[in-house]
Amino acid sequence: MKRTISLLVVLCLASAAFAKKGDWVTIKNGDLWYDTEGKVVQAHGAGFLQVGDTWYMIGEDRSRSWNPDVNMYSSKDLQTWKFEGKIIENGVTHSDLGRSRFIERPKLMYCKKTKQFVVWCHWEGSNYGASEAGVFYADKVTGPYHFKAGERPLGIKSRDCNVFVDDDGTAWFISTIEENQHLGFFRLADDYLSAVECTQLFKRQAREAPAIVKVDGVYYMLSSACTGWEPNQCKLSWTRNLTEGWSQLENIGDRIAYDTQAASILTIKGTKTTTYLYVGDRWMDPDLPRSKTIIFPISFKDGKCDFTYREQFEINFKTGEWREKKM
Ligand code: DGJ
Repeated sequence: MKRTISLLVVLCLASAAFAKKGDWVTIKNGDLWYDTEGKVVQAHGAGFLQVGDTWYMIGEDRSRSWNPDVNMYSSKDLQTWKFEGKIIENGVTHSDLGRSRFIERPKLMYCKKTKQFVVWCHWEGSNYGASEAGVFYADKVTGPYHFKAGERPLGIKSRDCNVFVDDDGTAWFISTIEENQHLGFFRLADDYLSAVECTQLFKRQAREAPAIVKVDGVYYMLSSACTGWEPNQCKLSWTRNLTEGWSQLENIGDRIAYDTQAASILTIKGTKTTTYLYVGDRWMDPDLPRSKTIIFPISFKDGKCDFTYREQFEINFKTGEWREKKM
């Protein structure tokens, strides 16, 4: 009897230790990611959508360098990636795609009103002369995605882009407009399928790769300068109203954003706290197909952002906590 009880105690302790360890995931930067089939993950300029406890990631498939298809992966820990398929494919989703048009920076949203999944992206032609935005929609997160539009939103030349969905469901397409001069904040229609209004901000400041997150009622935006595939200084700006009052751009991190350019900011809401994860592209490392996706925790407070690179860290997706990982 005594032996059975002690065996049970040992088993309980062991399973508790295992559960605790199992809740912490190590995220390590600098290497290629592999999916559950052992193939290199190709999802550059990535956009994310959380559905329940699953993260869907879409991004540019740069395995052939140019004319990327859009791949989708799913994961519960941002480490184990299941390939869900090519949600937008050259010549298949649209006949111009892969010929006179290519996609960059695809971003994914869910429209509660229509119950549809909507992708906005940069829809481009040779020498970045088309300067258009692409819009696709689907009834299921994994597709099939249908082409809705490939055009200059409200007739405005638009390149690097991102999306932002506010707490009240209002969706925004934010892009570098008019030959990389300003940022356009395009408010989207209720179905997220078209732009209804554009506010020009950050005039003549030539910002691209914008990524916005809302923390305690304050909108924070990270963005880069326009230097092609070369990394440059990441800058922060914040406001309490998306279309006005943005603070002056302020340098954060090192001079080259730790060799990255912003793709997304993820909000990891747990039972104990909320952690914000920066997702950036380490382009041309050493070439386009082997560009890396880099993730590290960042924090925001009183108009400031702690933007400190971590080669690795641990995160608990249940509690939302993160902690340093000793090398
Ligand atoms: C920087 C942009 O952020 C990328 O998405 C891509 O358009 C490159 N420029 C092309 O040079």
